[in-house]
Amino acid sequence: MILPPESPLWLARCVAAHPKKGLRMVLAIWILSMGFGTASLLGQIPEANGPAASASPAAVRERLAWLRLEIARHDELYFKHAAPEITDAAYDDLKRELRALEATYPDIAPPAESRMGDDRSGRFPLQPHGMRMLSLEKSYTAEELKAFVERVQRQVTPAEAVFVIEPKFDGLAINVTYEKGQLTRAVTRGNGAEGDDVTANLLVLSNVPLALATTAAPAPERIELRGEVYMTWSEFERINQEREIAGLEPYAHPRNLAVGTLKQQGVEMKPADRRLTVVFYGLGECEPAAARPASEQGLLAAIRAWKLPAVSGRRIARDANEVWREVNALGAGRKQLAFPIDGAVIKLDDAAQQTQLGETAEAPRWAMAYKFPPDRVATRVNRIILQIGRTGAVTPVAEVEPVKVGGATVRRASLHNRREIARKDIRVGDMIWLEKAGEIIPAIIDVDRSRRPAEAVAFVFPENCPGCGKALVFEETVVRCPNHHCPAQVRRRLEYFVSDAAVDIDGVGQAIVASLVKRKLATHPADLYALPQEDWLQVAPAKTVEKILASIEASKHREPWRYVCGIGVPEVGPAAAKAIARQFPDLNAWARATEQDYTGSRVSEAARRAALQYFSDPARRGEVARLQRAIQPKI
Ligand code: IVH
Repeated sequence: MILPPESPLWLARCVAAHPKKGLRMVLAIWILSMGFGTASLLGQIPEANGPAASASPAAVRERLAWLRLEIARHDELYFKHAAPEITDAAYDDLKRELRALEATYPDIAPPAESRMGDDRSGRFPLQPHGMRMLSLEKSYTAEELKAFVERVQRQVTPAEAVFVIEPKFDGLAINVTYEKGQLTRAVTRGNGAEGDDVTANLLVLSNVPLALATTAAPAPERIELRGEVYMTWSEFERINQEREIAGLEPYAHPRNLAVGTLKQQGVEMKPADRRLTVVFYGLGECEPAAARPASEQGLLAAIRAWKLPAVSGRRIARDANEVWREVNALGAGRKQLAFPIDGAVIKLDDAAQQTQLGETAEAPRWAMAYKFPPDRVATRVNRIILQIGRTGAVTPVAEVEPVKVGGATVRRASLHNRREIARKDIRVGDMIWLEKAGEIIPAIIDVDRSRRPAEAVAFVFPENCPGCGKALVFEETVVRCPNHHCPAQVRRRLEYFVSDAAVDIDGVGQAIVASLVKRKLATHPADLYALPQEDWLQVAPAKTVEKILASIEASKHREPWRYVCGIGVPEVGPAAAKAIARQFPDLNAWARATEQDYTGSRVSEAARRAALQYFSDPARRGEVARLQRAIQPKI
């Protein structure tokens, strides 16, 4: 990597546009100019490729493209699969960096129209919202929050502003419409303009009232009420206790479980199994317009009068100091709350003043979220194990002394890669600081060297795959098991194929996949469709087998991209799979495609190359042909 001469102006602009990231860039350049090695010293984000290392338009463009793709990938993981891979803070860092680049280089980087998440799953009918559902601008420090309050105070007339402060519920946003007082639909935020119609599920699974009580306040003709669907801590813990008794892996966070629960398909729903809770805190469309409450406080009073579940613990503040005091008071009491929250929401109270301030494409200018710093706890590393992914990537994972953090029990922490272990010098036996903020895998923030046991030795990456014994291949940062037939990889590929991220075969869990692989009954997804009942009976009880056979039958009619992505070709995730499914009529055409056949498609270079390489093996083309025949039987 070449270090270009950075102009002080460029650096100053970076710091001004994005203080945190800018300082990191300065640090990066300093480290590099000292000749201390590569920018991977700076953390997981490959800043080495970023414009910190070269401010040329090409480098800016490259970094932008990477950021946009990466953000889209994390959006998909978070919103669609409720399975985030990185912390909220790391995600927000990516978004801020993108925004800072767009602000610094408007000519190179015209901002995309909107970067709001998208939770549309493709499994529910879509419904447009009467009024767009926006997101919230986020802040992390007292200064950022103060700047927001003072900006609002400067911009509104009369210059007096009242703010309400309420918990930021950690669930998923919902838009519930009541017409003439009756609930007519419940729709998730989706892309802001339209979302998944989950009315039936919400009615079965939650406390949402079917009708407004109109004894204390009349019902408007039509009103969209915005709120959050979440799972209480007690419900989350009850479910996890049952899972532990059944020998199943406990869920990591109530938010992800709430999303999964709300988005279950009809047949899977067992209403008594999992309860969700709805709370209302906002307003969308309202007819007649004259019925719109004049303030947030008025809206809360109306929600209460209609006997709907209303946001609780709301506080009032009149200036930046009061806002900060109330936000902290809310944060201090968060552990006692019955539900998960990840911050506070600060809103300007008066509706007319809100209208004066307006909104951006993504968020209102009159509201701000403040994210609480993530919880930190100390625990001990008991073991370092290697996890083998479906494409053979080997990830070191620390097994830690189970510890409660962020409301959930943590047993494992990702170590990312061997450089990360070496950089932080994490050893078995070490006391470490863990941080967790809702994401599935917590991060190890630091090692407490003062408490290191004398016998702790540095971790040495094994040379051979723990799954199959083959020699591992050490690439730049990734370590791979090169053996496509490695049982651990085979298991991961099958697990992925049956998961709801891909083809979604209900009833085939990790334990069943493990037994199938152990008995050599299945190595490729195509095998699942060919297994006779007797074979299934070797790995699951009769009742489960019945259910599995029914879900296998149902899984023959999924959207084509789900099979494409489920096969497990490296680099082919949901986004690439969708582009592939648009380009090729079926799996066979894709498996036999040449470079030319991709002409005009939106499949990324990396996915093309990986697929061409993967299908250069005739055995793999054969497996795909078997899968294609299974999902589209000839009549
Ligand atoms: S007000 C115009 N109030 O936070 C947006 N949102 O990051 C109005 N959220 O999509 C949102 N608790 O799902 C509001 N008390 C609260 C909230 C809240 C949680 C969620 C909501 C929103 C997201 C934005």
